[in-house]
Amino acid sequence: MHNILSISHLYKTYQSGFQALKDINLEISKGEIFALLGQNGAGKTTLISIICGIVNPSSGQVLVDGNNIITNYRDARAQIGLVPQELSTDSFETVWNTVTFSRGLYGKAPNPTLIEKILKDLSLWDKRHNKIMTLSGGMKRRVMIAKALSHEPKILFLDEPTAGVDVSLRKDMWKLVNILKDNGTTVILTTHYIEEAEEMADRIGIIHSGELIMVDDKLALMTKLGKKELTLELQNPLQSLPKELDLTGLSLSEDKCELIYRFDSKDEDINIAQLLQKIANLGIVFKDLHTKQSSLEEIFVNLVNSEANTHEV
Ligand SMILES: Nc1ncnc2c1ncn2[C@@H]1O[C@H](COP(=O)(O)OP(=O)(O)OP(=O)(O)O)[C@@H](O)[C@H]1O
Ligand SMILES: [Mg+2]
Repeated sequence: MHNILSISHLYKTYQSGFQALKDINLEISKGEIFALLGQNGAGKTTLISIICGIVNPSSGQVLVDGNNIITNYRDARAQIGLVPQELSTDSFETVWNTVTFSRGLYGKAPNPTLIEKILKDLSLWDKRHNKIMTLSGGMKRRVMIAKALSHEPKILFLDEPTAGVDVSLRKDMWKLVNILKDNGTTVILTTHYIEEAEEMADRIGIIHSGELIMVDDKLALMTKLGKKELTLELQNPLQSLPKELDLTGLSLSEDKCELIYRFDSKDEDINIAQLLQKIANLGIVFKDLHTKQSSLEEIFVNLVNSEANTHEV
């Protein structure tokens, strides 16, 4: 069986001569929640726009549910719902009409029951007779999502779905994505809120300067690249690290007041109790201790920085 989305050797150079995408290869299976992370200008919107047929690729191939986006555009596009990064929704139409019309554009038979369900899921039911222009920004964004879902797409693209929206809409969005996932819809989203990717995604792709530098399972990414850190605040500063504590990953802070132990999250054999015992045996007293696990955000920043450094050479 083919994947719901298959991208191979995709390149994009804009007319200005700017190369926005370089050799993108990506396979997404049905029902996956995929988060695309990258800094401003990394190429996220360009990639989504190509898949949705808004921007032409320079070379390479994209198949949506087996349909080539160039030679079989209509069938490919019919599988896709898109909520673009830039909203353009100032309309005199009502919420109900806009969403119903949007379904019609895809040649689908009217389905008021479905539209009702979508509007209810998005907490827009009470506003269904309101003109779009009278809605708040967050509600307009919900209308865009309702429109994108109106023709029952197999893949939903959300380009920065929660940029500038309040916490409650963000939480609603996460809930909605979970409902879609349960229905078997594939969701591909871009976000600058890394905690959002951490919360929702099954897999994460990191794009940097037009290149997909990493694609991995979220949990694998976090255990592979994540570190844990144990910090002991000492009662009295140490002059140097005692040789008994010469252990990989253990260091003394610059001000000599903290012992810091960094270890891989995946390393389960590390015995913290033994380490603490050793420290106690040496008569070293600490007044406080804390641990921290690196977040997806730190992993992301480290990756992008190290990538930038490699290219500087
Ligand atoms: N029509 C265009 N013509 C020329 N260059 C463009 C065009 N559209 C985008 N670019 C450039 O391509 C690069 C990627 O832009 P893109 O919008 O895909 O980034 P993005 O990852 O979505 O960024 P953001 O997080 O800010 O939304 C940027 O350097 C941008 O300036
Ligand atoms: Mg963008």
